[in-house]
Amino acid sequence: MLEGIEHVALAVSDLDVAIRHHREVWGLEVARRERVEDQGIEEATLPLGAAALQLIAPTSPASTVARFLERRGEGLHHVAYEVADVRAALERLRALGVALVDEEPRRGGGGDLVAFVHPRGNHGLLVELVQRSGDPSA
Ligand code: CO
Repeated sequence: MLEGIEHVALAVSDLDVAIRHHREVWGLEVARRERVEDQGIEEATLPLGAAALQLIAPTSPASTVARFLERRGEGLHHVAYEVADVRAALERLRALGVALVDEEPRRGGGGDLVAFVHPRGNHGLLVELVQRSGDPSA
């Protein structure tokens, strides 16, 4: 069912500061930076091997990432698993009684189809399912 880890996402309070840190300390470069209005965040994607590190910062105080930072501070926010078919994956999880954040897939960064699985019932890990758009220009 899982094709691999697509990205690991870190919640940060200042995207520019975090990007600079990851360039200077880890030698990682930003391949894509975009606002995902749907999630109230701005994200920067830094390729790392076959996967990527994603830095996410809130663009509005109402965003779930803003609330996350208030409650827990900066740190690991979610791990994204790549799947071939996000709808089929949601169907399977629903059948298993796993709590979902998204009942239907939505558009994530880069035009990918994504859906979040609730950390409750998944040993505390927020998982994002990612079905890549396959569009290199997205
Ligand atoms: Co993500």
